[in-house]
Amino acid sequence: MKFELSLKTNLFQLSALSVCFLMASAEVKAQNITIAIETKSNALVLQADAKKNLNTIYFGKKLSSAAEYDEVPSVFKQSGEYTSVLSSPYTPSGSKSLMEPAISVSHADGNNSLDLRYVSHKLSKIDGDVSLTTVVLKDPVYDFEVTLYYKTYFKDDVVEQWSVIKHKEKGNVLLQKYASANLYLKAGGYWLTQYHGDWAKEMRPEESRITHGIKTLDTKLGTRANLFQPSVFMVSLDKPATEDEGTVLYGALEYSGNFRTDIELDYLDNLKIISGINNYASAYTLKPNEEFTTPAFLYTLSSSGKGNASRNLHNWARNYKILDGKGQRLTLLNNWEATYFDFNETKLFELLKDTKKLGVDMFLLDDGWFANKYPRNGDVAGLGDWEENKTKLPNGVASLVKEAQANGVKFGIWIEPEMVNPKSNLYEKHPDWVIKQPKREEYYFRNQLVLDLSNPKVQDFVFGVVDDLFTKNPELAYIKWDCNAVIYNAYSATLGNQNHFYIEYMRGLYKVLERIRAKYPTVPMMLCSGGGGRVDYAALKYFTEFWPSDNTDPMERIFIQWEYSYFYPSITSSNHVTDWGKQPIKFRTDVAMMGKLGFDIVISHLKENDLKYVQDAVKTYNDVKSIIWSGDQYRLANPREGSVASMGYVSTDKTKALMFNYLVNNRYDEGSKFPIRLKGLDAAKKYKIKELNLYPGTNSSIDSNKSYSGEFLMTVGFNPVVNSGRTSVILQLDEIK
Ligand code: DGJ
Repeated sequence: MKFELSLKTNLFQLSALSVCFLMASAEVKAQNITIAIETKSNALVLQADAKKNLNTIYFGKKLSSAAEYDEVPSVFKQSGEYTSVLSSPYTPSGSKSLMEPAISVSHADGNNSLDLRYVSHKLSKIDGDVSLTTVVLKDPVYDFEVTLYYKTYFKDDVVEQWSVIKHKEKGNVLLQKYASANLYLKAGGYWLTQYHGDWAKEMRPEESRITHGIKTLDTKLGTRANLFQPSVFMVSLDKPATEDEGTVLYGALEYSGNFRTDIELDYLDNLKIISGINNYASAYTLKPNEEFTTPAFLYTLSSSGKGNASRNLHNWARNYKILDGKGQRLTLLNNWEATYFDFNETKLFELLKDTKKLGVDMFLLDDGWFANKYPRNGDVAGLGDWEENKTKLPNGVASLVKEAQANGVKFGIWIEPEMVNPKSNLYEKHPDWVIKQPKREEYYFRNQLVLDLSNPKVQDFVFGVVDDLFTKNPELAYIKWDCNAVIYNAYSATLGNQNHFYIEYMRGLYKVLERIRAKYPTVPMMLCSGGGGRVDYAALKYFTEFWPSDNTDPMERIFIQWEYSYFYPSITSSNHVTDWGKQPIKFRTDVAMMGKLGFDIVISHLKENDLKYVQDAVKTYNDVKSIIWSGDQYRLANPREGSVASMGYVSTDKTKALMFNYLVNNRYDEGSKFPIRLKGLDAAKKYKIKELNLYPGTNSSIDSNKSYSGEFLMTVGFNPVVNSGRTSVILQLDEIK
């Protein structure tokens, strides 16, 4: 990245006088520099005072006259701003600010102080929708510079913010903390929605009022980073936001490794949000003239509730971030839960026939197809040895790909290329490629260790796993990329500075993914991490979809998918029908249809009507999937708030819509007693409603001859008639022309 260095050094010979913010005279005010970073609805406004201290003076709804932003500080009477930098957009440490820093450094001479003053800023238009504002900050004493980047996506009210740090000191500088962004908000109260979880328990929400002090959301797991805590969160201002009301900020770090978000309610009742790479065990040594670029922190602010925030994020993600975000996806049959490790070529040939019979696009071969010295017949051996197991697949993957073609279906394959079992050829050949402490006992997660992606040789190896598969099987249509272990005993046998380990691991991973995408730009890949342990917008740049959880019990999935839906569009959510849970096949399939549909069941075990049902459901899904993948998503009835969950999708031209409804409470006489209000329809249009996915031999209680105005459906609502006899109901709305 290039820098605009319009720095006039004499400006920075000023000593750091503690000029009180409140004492700013009209004369001083005249010298203020105001930077408004605007999107369609919002503005983030920074202002530099006469001493070039830069502060956030406003973050909220955009004003029609930008000149009025200058008046914002005058209407706040919060006394006691002692430093002139309390609302810094990138809080330094060791000088005046004693609050949680965004950046903390040890200079080449060992001094720990940093002061960052405004130097210049620049707005450049990337296209009609996207702009980039850069703000250069510099220390008046040290030759140390930070450039803040604000990339705005106007229509979607989304901002990506990151920073680039560099210096020209006479030796290395140690970056102790180096956040991506530092927001500063003012409101009458703040509520945090955060997530926690574990395997099969992903995305459990907690909402609480933020109290004074610091709340940190973070991970130190290295890989599978979201296992216990994902980086996505929401902050509601003034009152807890609902689906359609209230002001809410969504935040997420675009990073797949260790992250840290500090949320500090300060003594003036203002809220600081600092997010970036976790500095845990990661003090970074920055050489003179070297640039350190942080990952982007992503945020969107909505003053009309959570629904609007998610739709903005979904649009942004599909348009700008996710690989092939507006493209097609493959429906599939996966063999993991149907066979686990117990299969051979004959069995797989049968499953390929079942794939065709089911009517899906592709067969996905999961774990267990590889390794010979230590065959992969369970999760204790073989990881790392990516040659076909000769007993199970005597004719290799090539013969499966060929057989798939003969059956008119595509073929995809599972890999977990970042990992190694100690019982493997790879481990024996390259013990120095494995992350482990040289003098400590090895400690395993799912009987495996992580390969050291900070080592370029390991990067070549991991790239080679994918490249080899495609070179040998050019027709290979899909990769499921798993990542089941966290990093224990973090240590690289080849990295000089162990403090760079976590960062270099991620750089290594992204380098590999870049190489894969340079050579194979469009082949769909699923981001899987023993369930939803790895999903973020840095990874989704390379992946078309993610695996939300190994928990596919549809009742659980309603809740898990609901929470993911705040942040990720349904086209990214791989949902498979499995045998988890007690629900009938209809319920399981209907829930899986609210995203990218797949199956992981034994088709030959299905009863006749169940088979007929899923075959018809696949056809129906093909008819309506474009509404689910690229329409606007509306959460209509929250499963945490009532007995019925309801999710809506509306095509962008509002001519078609889908409504998925489920009974989530088994108690006596529970059901949809009240109508559920639809959203996002055209009030003036008339719609007819029909029920989809009827189980063979059942009739719908919905009269498909009736028509309703969009106004009626959004004001009064519609009753899908969900009850203990109809636990899952999908409705399709079509405009009557
Ligand atoms: C964990 C994944 O989440 C599962 O879907 C499956 O692929 C297994 N790994 C295979 O080991």
